[in-house]
Amino acid sequence: MQYTDERCEILSNRQIADGIFDLTVKADYLAQNAGCGQFANILCGGLMLRRPISICDTDPKAGTARFVYQVKGKGTAWLSQQPAGASLQIFGPLGRGFSFIKKPAQVVLIGGGIGSPPMLKTAKTAAELGIAVHVILGFRSRQAVILEQDFKQVAQTVTVCTDDGSYGIHGFVTQALQPLLQQGVGCVMACGPTPMLKNVAGMCADTKTPCFVSLEERMGCGVGACMCCVCKIRVRGFSGYQQVCKSGPVFDGRSVVWYQTKPLESGQFDDAKAVRLAVFCDEQGYDPAAEFDELDAHAIHLAVYDGAKPIATGRVLPPEDGVCKIGRIAVLKPYRGRSVGRYLVEDLIEAARQQGANTIRVDAQVQAMPFYQKLGFESYGEEHLDGHIPHMYMERKL
Ligand SMILES: Cc1cc2nc3c(=O)[nH]c(=O)nc-3n(C[C@H](O)[C@H](O)[C@H](O)COP(=O)(O)OP(=O)(O)OC[C@H]3O[C@@H](n4cnc5c(N)ncnc54)[C@H](O)[C@@H]3O)c2cc1C
Ligand code: FES
Repeated sequence: MQYTDERCEILSNRQIADGIFDLTVKADYLAQNAGCGQFANILCGGLMLRRPISICDTDPKAGTARFVYQVKGKGTAWLSQQPAGASLQIFGPLGRGFSFIKKPAQVVLIGGGIGSPPMLKTAKTAAELGIAVHVILGFRSRQAVILEQDFKQVAQTVTVCTDDGSYGIHGFVTQALQPLLQQGVGCVMACGPTPMLKNVAGMCADTKTPCFVSLEERMGCGVGACMCCVCKIRVRGFSGYQQVCKSGPVFDGRSVVWYQTKPLESGQFDDAKAVRLAVFCDEQGYDPAAEFDELDAHAIHLAVYDGAKPIATGRVLPPEDGVCKIGRIAVLKPYRGRSVGRYLVEDLIEAARQQGANTIRVDAQVQAMPFYQKLGFESYGEEHLDGHIPHMYMERKL
């Protein structure tokens, strides 16, 4: 990674909306080397930790870089008071940004609030590559709208949404995204608040549209040395923590662990029950009296949560001769196709492994067989009915 610490003269630093400032600095290295979606660490007054701010735009000919930032605390308040002619110590460009290596014919770029600035350089980069750019911006209200005219200069369409309906579409960015996904777009890229990113990534997963999101975490060093900016990522079945500053801030939306899997304490069984009732009883017609059996009392139950809401569950029975059975795996309908079930089964397998299992068995509904085959399960025995639904026994050696 190529970065440098530059002393940069401030060319302008003006307020463009309530508490939001537009800063342009002379920064030759950044201007020549920054990619879209990257950020820089700005030294703010006497504060030890530099503040990460996304690179909104660059002009390589003029040797300038532009940042748009919101005053949040001490650092950004200090920054907002710096006049033209003063200088800033700026370290960058940092992180992995958005990539157009797989050049899609069209891209949808989404910016939520103060997540909009990095999408401007991204829009310009895409337009320069001949990619049709559709921009969706979301803000609280008309007063908070920023950069609309800048985006209009490069994008084919710019749709502004406001939470209170005071400007543009009354609603969230996801409302404007839905019709574009239905028409089919090559790729979606987004930066903004985490709930927005989670919903965008979920909608893209539902329509099998590639999606890349720029995450925001509190940062220390900005270069991968302090571990204070980690987020949970899953790649090919392995989950772990990655540094947002070094491996991100841009990640594939499918690899971010948006939903948290937790073992259920005894008092939380109602959470599992609610999901199983919705999926097995309301949707599939199983009798609630048969759905909950005495094995529940001996099993380890896991549940997946979207915030505080349980969205999926499954259980692991105690091992017998090294064999653990997993089952009662249920995912609420709106969350299917978003890797929730796959991650849950992987976590159930891990829970079984920790109990000493060397073999995992599942009695799979036949329509779920391809899903389990992808996870390494093989079928054995005869197809049989469990209630009114055909099932097949499947097994995976650990
Ligand atoms: C990769 C990246 C890119 C960013 N790009 C921009 C940008 O283009 N424009 C912009 O306005 N802001 C951006 N931010 C957020 C910005 O870094 C913080 O708002 C800033 O560091 C706050 O510093 P402060 O000294 O003003 O506030 P502090 O006194 O440090 O904190 C004030 C408040 O802001 C919250 N806060 C601080 N840092 C973060 C953070 N990283 N994420 C979420 N909340 C935070 C704190 O929890 C606290 O509530 C970005 C953050 C990251 C990680
Ligand atoms: S901020 Fe130090 S590792 Fe990311």
